[in-house]
Amino acid sequence: VLPFLGQIMTANIIDGKKIAQETISEIKKSIAKNINDGISPPGLAVVIVGDNPASAIYVRNKRIACEEVGMKSFNHDLPEDTSEKELIELVKSLNNNSEVHGILVQLPLPDHISETKIIESIDPIKDVDGFHPYTIGRLMQRIPVLRPCTSIGVITMLDSIGIDPMGKHAVIVGASNLVGRPLALELLLRGATTTVCHKFTKNLESFVNQAEILAVAVGKIGIIPGNWIKKDAVVFDIGINRDENGKVTGDVDFKTAKEQASWISPVSGGFGPMTVAMLLKNTLIASSINMSNNKKERKISSDKWINI
Ligand code: GUN
Repeated sequence: VLPFLGQIMTANIIDGKKIAQETISEIKKSIAKNINDGISPPGLAVVIVGDNPASAIYVRNKRIACEEVGMKSFNHDLPEDTSEKELIELVKSLNNNSEVHGILVQLPLPDHISETKIIESIDPIKDVDGFHPYTIGRLMQRIPVLRPCTSIGVITMLDSIGIDPMGKHAVIVGASNLVGRPLALELLLRGATTTVCHKFTKNLESFVNQAEILAVAVGKIGIIPGNWIKKDAVVFDIGINRDENGKVTGDVDFKTAKEQASWISPVSGGFGPMTVAMLLKNTLIASSINMSNNKKERKISSDKWINI
């Protein structure tokens, strides 16, 4: 639709909830068909240590979604004082349990447990979070197997709204292991010219205003004012913050950003459901994946992600 002179354009909303629901329906159908063919359902183990209230909500959503699609959910709720050794023993037992195809240990972990050690104790074939160095290394080498959930969620959303990142300038703000870095690898894989900004970046605005695709995952309310955003950019706000009234708020100033962007993901109803849907998709893939060193099979496993 052409804008009338003087009228302010507002962005289309990227409906993460709807896109997630489409993926969930496909997964549900696929599992039902497999069960009909005598193939047992995928199993997902979700482990939480301690009682971080935000983590408890995320874990609950993951477990509910798991049961909804017909997967088997293995729940492990461990006390705050669980030792690193005990947690590693649990992960090892899940690695050896043939009914468990995916293992997720909710982060953050209590300070006395090394997240690196725990992530590295997960068998990469069951690494449905996509955080194991093997998984990230495969993505970096352009032979992905399982894919980190939030970043593949962004790619799925781009595909869903018909935006091809090839040759576009994508700017990511935030260089975390969980979101910024894997997203940079995904966007590179799809042919975007990719810039990663972080807390030491000087003149952030000068990068943000070049972005045809902008993804922000910092965790600071309003770090990106709307007037920094390039006209018609596609904007993903991956920040989850609470304002002084307890309301969930993103990193991008939504009100002003939507006057600049062509597409924008809303703060809530965007990435929560999307990340869960991608986790279930990874679990379904993990239940059928073959981590062979055979090159042809590697290709099959990465295609599988795209075509499932
Ligand atoms: N904490 C915040 N996001 C995530 C996630 O995607 N996976 C895990 N394991 N922990 C998280």
